[in-house]
Amino acid sequence: MSEQEQPEPTADELRSVLSRWASGVAVVTTNDNGLLYGLTVSSFTSVSLDPPLVLVSLANANRLTSMIETSHGFAVSLLSAQQEAASNYFARPGRLPTPDFTEIAGEWTPSGQPVIAGSLGWLSCSLHAVLPQGDHTLVIGRVNGTGGDVDQEPLVYWSRAYRRIT
Ligand SMILES: Cc1cc2nc3c(=O)[nH]c(=O)nc-3n(C[C@H](O)[C@H](O)[C@H](O)COP(=O)(O)O)c2cc1C
Repeated sequence: MSEQEQPEPTADELRSVLSRWASGVAVVTTNDNGLLYGLTVSSFTSVSLDPPLVLVSLANANRLTSMIETSHGFAVSLLSAQQEAASNYFARPGRLPTPDFTEIAGEWTPSGQPVIAGSLGWLSCSLHAVLPQGDHTLVIGRVNGTGGDVDQEPLVYWSRAYRRIT
């Protein structure tokens, strides 16, 4: 098949095709000198088992990346089907870092990162690499602890809406 020049997709075309990709929902959190902040993401991906590396892609405009760079660590909470409220809360624009997650129950990992209480799983990470790419930044962490409540169904995001497996 001969290669033909095709114009780059518009932002709407790109969003439309990407919305057909089903994913889990996670919240990335960090503790930057006692100030906590978190963000809902669908871009969580495992990168490597040896060494244990995971990745999230964060919009450049978001303050979370610079907080992670200062704190040198972050955590990822994998949300269960019961945690839509946490997903909505951490996707709300205009929030400020606070000493506590006042509206959503949190708990601490042994490494001192906040995670969302009752999550299906969590991973605490030390910062491994920060790779700016276009309007997002790939944040790669080296996993230093895991936990969670495995007896739960995952929250799924597909076609711009939350879905459940069962
Ligand atoms: C299901 C879902 C997945 C999202 N995934 C990402 C993501 O992977 N990366 C990202 O930067 N923002 C993602 N967002 C958007 C952020 O959670 C947030 O809504 C947005 O950055 C606005 O908040 P801010 O003003 O604090 O930046 C996602 C939102 C939702 C609801």
